[in-house]
Amino acid sequence: MTQPYYQDEAVTIYHGDCREIVPTLGRFDAVVTDPPYGVDFDYAGYDDTHDAWAALMEDIIPKLKKAAPFVVMPAGDRMALRQMYIDHSPDWIIAWFKGSPGTRSPIGFNSWEPHLTWGKPYKAMHDAFQTRCGFELKGHPCPKPLAWAMWLVQRAAPHGGTVLDPFAGSGTTGRAAKDLGRKAVLIELEERYCEIAANRMAQGVLDFGGIEPSTERLTGRDQLTADGTQHAAGQEDAESSETVP
Ligand SMILES: C[S@@+](CC[C@H](N)C(=O)[O-])C[C@H]1O[C@@H](n2cnc3c(N)ncnc32)[C@H](O)[C@@H]1O
Repeated sequence: MTQPYYQDEAVTIYHGDCREIVPTLGRFDAVVTDPPYGVDFDYAGYDDTHDAWAALMEDIIPKLKKAAPFVVMPAGDRMALRQMYIDHSPDWIIAWFKGSPGTRSPIGFNSWEPHLTWGKPYKAMHDAFQTRCGFELKGHPCPKPLAWAMWLVQRAAPHGGTVLDPFAGSGTTGRAAKDLGRKAVLIELEERYCEIAANRMAQGVLDFGGIEPSTERLTGRDQLTADGTQHAAGQEDAESSETVP
């Protein structure tokens, strides 16, 4: 069994290949992860080709579905999305509205990313959310914004529950889990990213005074208008009536 690279009361980090480590770990409340997209990102060691991505998904997706009742991850690029639907057909898609990051879509400009889901979360959740796209963290080529992980982790796992992130990068999912009173097990191939993640975990926990913080964006009262601006529409919906933030 691989020894943890880092461990505290909420987060365990393993340095290694998730394809070997995940089957040794048991069950989790949810998998919240962000695999490579197969788009030639400049990672420290991993070769981010489409073929490497396809081989990785072929191996890891069945293992992740065994490890938790709910799995959520970005689909990757357009080719990846198509292939996922053929080889690993998801149960649903969550739309992450991230604003326009300056990238293109097949019809022009890109403002959202599909996140594929398998299984069901511990309670009903919405299938669209919005966070800003930018990040400040240095040392990883493509860290997700903390707000992205906060929204997903809060809805994927109950308070006190544990999420697995097998492609942890700089540890954003673990940081969100810790701040939200969840636990996390992180796996990362590159030691230098494990080090960044471990340093992030060692920082103090946000104190929300025992109350679940609101990570609501585009759900409940927060609606997106057709021109992309936000306004409080004052509409109740199923999620707010279930008092999910
Ligand atoms: C898109 S990045 C994740 C970024 C992360 N969400 C963050 O906020 O920093 C994907 C990560 O998966 C890692 N990776 C690639 N293959 C892996 C494998 N077989 N096992 C574990 N990690 C792997 C890469 O090194 C990279 O850091």
